[in-house]
Amino acid sequence: IMSLPPPAKYGGRHTVTLIPGDGIGPELLNHVREVFRFTCVPVDFEMVNVNSALETDDDMNNAITAIRRNGVALKGNIETKHTLPASVKSRNNVLRTSLDLYANVMHCQSLPGVQTRHKNIDIMIIRENTEGEYSSLEHESVSGVVESLKIITRNNSIRIADYAFKLARERGRRRVTAVHKANIMKLGDGLFLQCCREVASGYPDITLDSMIVDNTTMQLVSKPQQFDVMVMPNLYGNVVSNVCAGLVGGPGLVPGANYGRDYAVFETATRNTGKSIAEKNIANPTAMLLASCLMLDHLNLNDYASLIRNAVLTTMNETRLHTADLGGQGTTSEVVQSVMRVIQILRRIRMHVADMHSRN
Ligand SMILES: *[C@@H]1O[C@H](CO)[C@@H](O)[C@H](O)[C@H]1NC(C)=O
Ligand SMILES: *[C@@H]1O[C@H](CO)[C@@H](O)[C@H](O)[C@H]1NC(C)=O
Ligand SMILES: *[C@@H]1O[C@H](CO)[C@@H](O)[C@H](O)[C@H]1NC(C)=O
Repeated sequence: IMSLPPPAKYGGRHTVTLIPGDGIGPELLNHVREVFRFTCVPVDFEMVNVNSALETDDDMNNAITAIRRNGVALKGNIETKHTLPASVKSRNNVLRTSLDLYANVMHCQSLPGVQTRHKNIDIMIIRENTEGEYSSLEHESVSGVVESLKIITRNNSIRIADYAFKLARERGRRRVTAVHKANIMKLGDGLFLQCCREVASGYPDITLDSMIVDNTTMQLVSKPQQFDVMVMPNLYGNVVSNVCAGLVGGPGLVPGANYGRDYAVFETATRNTGKSIAEKNIANPTAMLLASCLMLDHLNLNDYASLIRNAVLTTMNETRLHTADLGGQGTTSEVVQSVMRVIQILRRIRMHVADMHSRN
């Protein structure tokens, strides 16, 4: 079963947990709220702050409880300090594992108006999001010798492969590429690959092929159009999705989604905080706005999702509004203002069309 959205409350409204996070997270999420208010989206946000400076887990537990209650969240990235002891897990990681958000999904697509080396990229990346190299099981029992455990399980590999094939079928895709390093990690990645093959046998309409991770990154930067849907363990997913974000214009453009059976959390695809450009009104709001559209799709508010998405893409196509990450001089708020102007225009067109139909 793919994840199901929670039902709307009385009056058709939804409540979504909002976690501002660090860096550019808070300002981008304020812009999302502004656009939602302007568009009269029937979503109420319940804001939960997570302070990454605190060492206690109280904030995180509140956030997780709120997501359990609402079923859906939109979040900025929470900073992970590298200086903390190894026993302290990344809070973003704790959130994903506690809620069993096993599938990270990123749709990497060339955008209109964005100059990139490669054109016509349209790749769905499905990343296993709960195990693999992210087990946080490391120890140094013998001084100078660190063991860092990568966990691959049959159950979770079958589950993610099945997710990838279901999604491929639902989206009319033809090919799934399993990314691995089974020539070296014969048991771990071997099991992952084996599970992909088992699942593929239930989808005769979709081709499975496999590619070693090093060749994958080389193929991506030289001929990315060859990829359709990709499925892979956690760390390869992290690397590959960042390569793909770079291919279509950078971290400011691509939204990401984490789905489990019961919950869904939306964020930017590359999970960086953007601390150095925070509070300067220069961050590109596109990735977070598109993440909010994925969230609206998940809530079956598809008309609102497509209205906002079209407005964002139309705005992207205006080179003069490009923010600094795309080589322009546009500010965050100029982009957001334009998005709202376009929403108004698209709405008028929709109403006009509806009006014409009712007269005929
Ligand atoms: C794998 O899933 C099956 C069926 O849901 C369950 O019975 C079994 O305990 C799981 N195995 C592990 C190792 O978690
Ligand atoms: C890398 O992938 C390409 C495209 O699928 C394939 O033709 C080539 O043989 C692969 N190279 C290696 C070294 O596996
Ligand atoms: C982007 O702009 C170009 C030229 O201004 C136009 O031809 C094209 O249709 C636009 N594409 C989208 C998707 O809006």
